[in-house]
Amino acid sequence: MQIITKSQDETYKFGKDLASHFRGGDILLLIGELGAGKTTLMKGLAAGFGVENEVTSPTFTLMNHYKTQQTIIKNLVHIDTYRLKDEYELKDIGVEDYLCEPDSLCVIEWPEKIVGLLKNKKTFNITIEHLGENKRKITMV
Ligand SMILES: Nc1ncnc2c1ncn2[C@@H]1O[C@H](COP(=O)(O)OP(=O)(O)O)[C@@H](O)[C@H]1O
Ligand SMILES: [Mg+2]
Repeated sequence: MQIITKSQDETYKFGKDLASHFRGGDILLLIGELGAGKTTLMKGLAAGFGVENEVTSPTFTLMNHYKTQQTIIKNLVHIDTYRLKDEYELKDIGVEDYLCEPDSLCVIEWPEKIVGLLKNKKTFNITIEHLGENKRKITMV
């Protein structure tokens, strides 16, 4: 599946509409350069799950955790490995308590850094490409 968005709001809405398509235990990888729109899409996704807290980029915290308004996927976990040294650092903060747990959806920015942790796990992959100042190509496989 592929769409072109022409504004931040369109990417947000794409994320929001996506929320109903996941099952508990799913892992979503967000792939794209800095400023592609990964966090924007995640904010929309969180809105789709009824998350009430403000969603901020976990660039420094590595992992943010939100309660949803749903009964099956209760936790939305947002991981950003941009500043991660190695995957042991993520293990230290308990990522494996959430990864693939049936009541959680994990969304990972910069998954390239933690291929070991994701090995043998089925993932949904979204790639966001920068086409112009406000134009992005979003591909989901
Ligand atoms: N079509 C678009 N989709 C998403 N973001 C866009 C778009 N057009 C412009 N932007 C801007 O690009 C930036 C994306 O930032 P962010 O979502 O934090 O990216 P990332 O998490 O990939 O580094 C924001 O400043 C946003 O306003
Ligand atoms: Mg980001």
